[in-house]
Amino acid sequence: MLLDVHDLHVEFHTRDGVAQAVNGVSYGVDEGETLAVLGESGSGKSVTAQAIMGILDVPPGRITGGEVIFRGRDLLTLKEEQRRKVRGAEMAMIFQDALSSLNPVISVGDQLGEMFTVHRGMSKKDARAEAVELMDRVRIPAARERVRQYPHQFSGGMRQRIMIAMALALEPALIIADEPTTALDVTVQAQVMELLAELQREYRMGLILITHDLGVVADVADRIAVMYAGRIVESAPVHDIYKAPAHPYTRGLLDSIPRLDQKGRELYAIRGLPPNLMDIPPGCAFHPRCPMARDVCRTDEPPLYEVTESEAGRGSACHFWRECLHG
Ligand SMILES: Nc1ncnc2c1ncn2[C@@H]1O[C@H](COP(=O)(O)OP(=O)(O)O)[C@@H](O)[C@H]1O
Ligand code: SF4
Ligand SMILES: [Mg+2]
Repeated sequence: MLLDVHDLHVEFHTRDGVAQAVNGVSYGVDEGETLAVLGESGSGKSVTAQAIMGILDVPPGRITGGEVIFRGRDLLTLKEEQRRKVRGAEMAMIFQDALSSLNPVISVGDQLGEMFTVHRGMSKKDARAEAVELMDRVRIPAARERVRQYPHQFSGGMRQRIMIAMALALEPALIIADEPTTALDVTVQAQVMELLAELQREYRMGLILITHDLGVVADVADRIAVMYAGRIVESAPVHDIYKAPAHPYTRGLLDSIPRLDQKGRELYAIRGLPPNLMDIPPGCAFHPRCPMARDVCRTDEPPLYEVTESEAGRGSACHFWRECLHG
């Protein structure tokens, strides 16, 4: 396993109380594998990623338990200086909003080039050549000319490509892409996602793709981890999930994707709202919204049951996963 996150806990201490943002998340990614992390806004997807990358806001955030084993060592035990070396060189992150991640007053060529001058000790001239090559790789037209331009001179989709180029620069073993296409319009979304998937295969990287949109992951992900209230509620190979979800929350997410073959059908929306993380419901956190909930769901927290009918390692945190799977 390239990355093995084990029983991670993160909380935020605020004036209003303690938000339990991540409550025992375990997931892993292999070399060359894409894991999609899915869930509504506020389910702890980004906070988990920030803890892995070592960029969590501390305070108010605090990691209160767990391990992040990357290439055999627990990153949570490393000193900040060692952490910084891992970041960029061994793992990199792509964010939703390139405009706020790129420096507005430095040309994209200099920003890309800096990866090579700072981390690889290259001359400015060589670094510039590498920058142009990277821009070619992410298919920015006229890279040789555009390398002098500033972030605001690029379209949203092109800026996102630049951010992908920055992440790729040092050929990291792992990339975490946090809603990389959410801010783009639909056709550009598909192009950027395709590019990311292609580069992931070419470089044989591990990729964690965070999204709230199940529609975008079908073609690119190997596995899916579904998060709810800071926990993984279902974890499975992507095809298993599309065939039949083993958790009612996953079913709700699937039923709310628009489908071409069912035009005109009214879209289903999961009723109610995600829970307040300062006051997570007892038992199964999803029970107030679950169409299958029964008494036991209000009192007993479901563990991540092994879905024994799958050979590929599948888990569901639902007492009634079997019914869900066949229902
Ligand atoms: N900087 C912060 N300060 C306080 N609470 C935070 C902060 N960042 C995240 N949280 C809490 O963690 C929860 C999960 O956030 P996040 O991981 O960003 O959700 P998402 O699944 O949408 O990426 C938020 O709903 C919020 O309660
Ligand atoms: S444990 Fe109960 S409330 Fe939770 S998802 Fe399963 S059926 Fe629904
Ligand atoms: Mg997020």
